[in-house]
Amino acid sequence: MNPSESDIPFKPGLAAAGIPMRDGIWQCLDASQVQGSNARYMRMYDRLARWYDLGERWIGRLLYGRSIARMRRELMASLPWRPGCRALYVSIGTGMDLASIPADLNAIRLIGADLSQGMLCRCRAVWARKARLELVRCQAEELPFQDGAFDIVFHVGGINFFSDPAQAVREMLRVARPGAALLIADETAEHIERQYKRSLFTRRDFRDARFDLSAIESCIPPGVLNRRTRLLWQGRFYCITFSKEGARPCNPA
Ligand SMILES: C[S@@+](CC[C@H](N)C(=O)[O-])C[C@H]1O[C@@H](n2cnc3c(N)ncnc32)[C@H](O)[C@@H]1O
Repeated sequence: MNPSESDIPFKPGLAAAGIPMRDGIWQCLDASQVQGSNARYMRMYDRLARWYDLGERWIGRLLYGRSIARMRRELMASLPWRPGCRALYVSIGTGMDLASIPADLNAIRLIGADLSQGMLCRCRAVWARKARLELVRCQAEELPFQDGAFDIVFHVGGINFFSDPAQAVREMLRVARPGAALLIADETAEHIERQYKRSLFTRRDFRDARFDLSAIESCIPPGVLNRRTRLLWQGRFYCITFSKEGARPCNPA
């Protein structure tokens, strides 16, 4: 398919130049150019992609019961879903949150971005026929979309260890329309210490990882509206919601 025929608001220059597609996923990333912690986590998620959903369903349920699913529902319920709205999920992974969106998935236009082709392939295999969904491989720090194109921009699980979280937040705000709702959520330092640094699957990649929630909060510019940080899942996750300044406010629900 030609990028200009798709439902995705790609930057005009990119669309005109042509964007390759692999396994049904638009390729806006040269993997050999990915650097810093992004390169490390891209490799890790490509390796884990096959096991990611199983890990959450079985190990996650064994350790935490149904509390992860409850938290995902709470996160998705914080956003103002409306029929016809266009939403961007940055770091969609395998799409575990899509089941928790309180809306008809065929009535919203959902675009999922991620840097791991492995995670995107899993996402496509599970969700392509159940949702109006298009997938784009790119880095959060360099989104290939037009300014002001989305009614909702959200991110769950990843930003703590992006190479450049401040640049990712700037990009999320750039592609959000004035008044759009934004949500950024990820694990707290306490959960990273207890879970990721101890788990057999992740401890090697997280051994030097340091995280401070105030560093992420400081990436959000002062001009945004209705900004609020909440802790969820008994303090294991944080969620920051806000709206982009502009004419048509769209308060998080
Ligand atoms: C913990 S998983 C979360 C996936 C999904 N959001 C969820 O909640 O299940 C983190 C995801 O972030 C993606 N990721 C990591 N760094 C990224 C970056 N700089 N830009 C885009 N995606 C990134 C990884 O490939 C992975 O799919």
